[in-house]
Amino acid sequence: MKIRIAHLSDPHFGANYPEVVNALTSSMKDLKPSLIILSGDITQRARCEQFVAAEKFVQQLAEFPWAIVPGNHDIPLFNIFARLFYPYKYFKNVFKGLLEKEIPVKSVHVFTLNSTSRFRHVQGALSAKQIKKIVADPLAETDVRIACFHHPMDCPKTVDEKNLLRNRDEAMQVFAKAGIDLILGGHIHDPYVNLSGERYPNVKRQSIISVAGTCLSWRTRAGAPNSFHLIDIDTADKKIPRLVITRYDLQSNKQFTPILVQSFFRDLAQGWIKN
Ligand SMILES: [Fe+2]
Ligand SMILES: [Fe+2]
Repeated sequence: MKIRIAHLSDPHFGANYPEVVNALTSSMKDLKPSLIILSGDITQRARCEQFVAAEKFVQQLAEFPWAIVPGNHDIPLFNIFARLFYPYKYFKNVFKGLLEKEIPVKSVHVFTLNSTSRFRHVQGALSAKQIKKIVADPLAETDVRIACFHHPMDCPKTVDEKNLLRNRDEAMQVFAKAGIDLILGGHIHDPYVNLSGERYPNVKRQSIISVAGTCLSWRTRAGAPNSFHLIDIDTADKKIPRLVITRYDLQSNKQFTPILVQSFFRDLAQGWIKN
């Protein structure tokens, strides 16, 4: 069984290139994913009109199911009253019922988690309750499990260490116990894919950590233009599922093109291994 997921992140509506929206929409229509995951920083400042722009984009791709989590930019920054008393008002208005959810797509289960908080400006964390909810879920051993939240579990540059999920060590232990296969995030606008064993050597079962870049925003970093990840999961062999992550970068002709392909397979004892 083949499942294709498009992982988009950090569009920052309100600080985005309008012309890239069309390029991204046509890529999605060409690639026909079974699910589109959007891992936060949907807007630049959590303003009503920015959520309306995001909603328009999502509606253009309404033929696909969506899994969406908020980022630190999706809760008000300057309006302290709104931040404290209704931080997710517009998110909930636009993406009804999507704040934290388990989304099954055939034998793949996607858990969306909210790593933002009204009490933190930039940094992200998950509560013990949030991560334990995943462990409690009884799934078949052969299923593939994906956890998605805005703040990343790994990064390629030391300057971004401060942006990693605060309680990542504790979270990683729980994810391994729960058999989470793939952990998706965004936030640093620097696309990166790695096995968990490098950053978390004490956790025996390896997961794949995949951080998507910014798909639409002009807040790009050196060597990382607008991009997204395409995740192809093949569960035909139930004992050894395979997973391929392809990074698509925006080129000067204003089209997204595949530039990097990384393949993995799962060994029931060790977790994920690079092909
Ligand atoms: Fe961002
Ligand atoms: Fe962010």
